[in-house]
Amino acid sequence: MDPMMKYPRLRDLEPAARRRIPAFIFAYLDSGTGHDVTKAANTAFYDSLALTPQFLRGRVDPDLSVSLLGKSYNAPFGVAPIGLSSTIWPGAEQILARSARKHGFPYTLSTVAGESIERVAEVGGEMAWFQLYPPRDRDICFDLMRRARDVGVDTLVVTADVPAPSRRERMRIAGAPLGSRGNSMYSPTVLLQAAMRPNWALQMLMNGGPRFRNMEPYAARDKSLPITKFIGSQLNGSLDWDYLDAIRDKWPGKLLLKGILHGQDAERAMRQGCDALVISNHGGRQLDAAPHPLHQLPHIRSVVGNKVPLIVDSGIQSGLDVAKALASGADFVLLGRAFMYAVAALGDNGGEHAAAILFEELRDVMAQLGTQNIAGLSEVSVTRDNS
Ligand SMILES: Cc1cc2nc3c(=O)[nH]c(=O)nc-3n(C[C@H](O)[C@H](O)[C@H](O)COP(=O)(O)O)c2cc1C
Repeated sequence: MDPMMKYPRLRDLEPAARRRIPAFIFAYLDSGTGHDVTKAANTAFYDSLALTPQFLRGRVDPDLSVSLLGKSYNAPFGVAPIGLSSTIWPGAEQILARSARKHGFPYTLSTVAGESIERVAEVGGEMAWFQLYPPRDRDICFDLMRRARDVGVDTLVVTADVPAPSRRERMRIAGAPLGSRGNSMYSPTVLLQAAMRPNWALQMLMNGGPRFRNMEPYAARDKSLPITKFIGSQLNGSLDWDYLDAIRDKWPGKLLLKGILHGQDAERAMRQGCDALVISNHGGRQLDAAPHPLHQLPHIRSVVGNKVPLIVDSGIQSGLDVAKALASGADFVLLGRAFMYAVAALGDNGGEHAAAILFEELRDVMAQLGTQNIAGLSEVSVTRDNS
């Protein structure tokens, strides 16, 4: 059956993903932290926004292309970095990087994804961005940056909003082995859940289990720790303003700082040479009282002006949400879970299907609004409390 008939909306793919991957993996992908209050608010905020269309503009044939930091993209959205993505669905990084390249929108590879930056740059070409959790050992950090640069990556996304691991209670309840406090990979709970999803388990076995190809070369030097512990020991919130300076000094390309919510942080990031900011609450996964990025956007815009593009994520699940973010003042958006639900639900076809929905929905919304191009979306009147 044509997936556009069965799953015409990205939200339809979440229950489909739940049926295809083990419960502890779904909990990792889907959960926020605490009581998921922030995660729920992320989508509720989008649902509460109304856009006022304008008519009598003749035939509208929307153009989705956009320029960001001097580079052209075919759409104002991209894929947010997702750690452990090939554990959620084996091969996820290549599936998404391939679709991103084909359709001309960015794919951001996480430091702790399964696939290497070398491979993703090969598949994703110019659309491959690299996300950095700056390791405690700066030599490892600079080497990761060198590797990204060597394979032609021009955009580095440094994540600021993980000063420490968060509790992610739903993962514990689901018996997840991920992280230092969970079950082992071979606990009865994990094995039973995996056995109930044989398609996932088979793909996992064929792919040789969970991998961390960006970090593996460094972990191999320190044989005293298993790789997850080694990564945990390196990615422990060592980023500060001084470290950001050092990264800026060494990175010749575009530098994005991700996870900014406070005006003072935005102002300082701009002063320290960041080229763009990602206003994000990490999909509600870190602090279960973090504000909504769109709520912070006007203040941050007033602080940084129009010099620094503001990219927004957290809670975006449709082309309509993309339009709402842009009408609210964002220059570009990222989607995390929405792309991953698609891959978990549809495997190799997931990237293509998610891209098809987003392009179709955004075109449709722009036509309904009477908006010819992406710049026109910033003129659309947006009001709160559509509930
Ligand atoms: C399963 C999962 C793993 C994530 N891993 C990372 C990561 O490795 N690096 C990072 O900067 N952000 C990570 N994030 C946050 C996303 O990049 C993004 O900010 C968030 O998913 C946006 O919210 P959304 O899922 O509602 O679109 C992760 C999010 C999820 C859901």
